[in-house]
Amino acid sequence: MTAMTSRSPSDRSEASLLSAMMSMAPPGIRLGCRTIRVGDEDLLLPEEQHAVTTRNLEARRASGAARHLARDLMAELGHPVVAIGRGRFGQPIWPAGVVGSLAHDRVMAVAAVVSGPANLSLGIDVEPAEPLPDDAVPLVMTAGDELGTASRHLAGRILFAAKEAIYKAVYPLDGIILNHDDVVVSLAASCGRTRAGPVVRLYLCISPRIVVLAIPSGR
Ligand SMILES: CC(C)(COP(=O)(O)OP(=O)(O)OC[C@H]1O[C@@H](n2cnc3c(N)ncnc32)[C@H](O)[C@@H]1OP(=O)(O)O)[C@@H](O)C(=O)NCCC(=O)NCCS
Repeated sequence: MTAMTSRSPSDRSEASLLSAMMSMAPPGIRLGCRTIRVGDEDLLLPEEQHAVTTRNLEARRASGAARHLARDLMAELGHPVVAIGRGRFGQPIWPAGVVGSLAHDRVMAVAAVVSGPANLSLGIDVEPAEPLPDDAVPLVMTAGDELGTASRHLAGRILFAAKEAIYKAVYPLDGIILNHDDVVVSLAASCGRTRAGPVVRLYLCISPRIVVLAIPSGR
């Protein structure tokens, strides 16, 4: 007789997104996702709680989910379970030998982690697979952006996620705060670049949520 297991909607959402993220993941990079749950704020380690005390419950909950996830990925890579700090400009501070990135939307937290030196960098973003509000599209999309075959319905949201992921990947390298029009993205070529920064390779999935991973690949 086959045992029946019942899975909660959040389990199914995680499994479905994880499968899409695994399909896009480049070799060596660990990606994960976790539905943000009530109580995830308690997953923050004491040092991390100190860094986010000024933030509201929703933000602490999302940070707890993302940091818990990142710690699991670090453990899979053989790294000890330690706090992931938070820099002055919001950037995560990784322990020596690990580089990664965190993101969350209202429902899901995602993380990307790789073993490597501090001059390596990653950026990740997650967004619902829904169109951006019409008035936000012109703020995000600039003349140089190339949409390729991306659905016109979602192109603005995909570009938004790509630019946020690129910013998170490049900021730890150069410390420059960027606007959307400082970043040009080609969805056709799966890459982007900042005004003065490196070319950034993009890996993405669109369904069930939009997730973009950005990896600087050289100047
Ligand atoms: C970093 C930023 C893009 C994150 O956007 P968000 O929609 O608030 O949140 P996300 O869930 O996508 O990402 C949050 C995570 O990004 C990471 N992050 C924040 N600032 C970062 C930075 N400067 N560099 C790298 N990662 C950063 C953090 O890990 C954060 O999670 P935490 O607060 O739980 O630690 C935004 O807060 C910001 O600083 N924007 C200014 C620049 C910008 O947006 N330019 C337009 C795009 S080029």
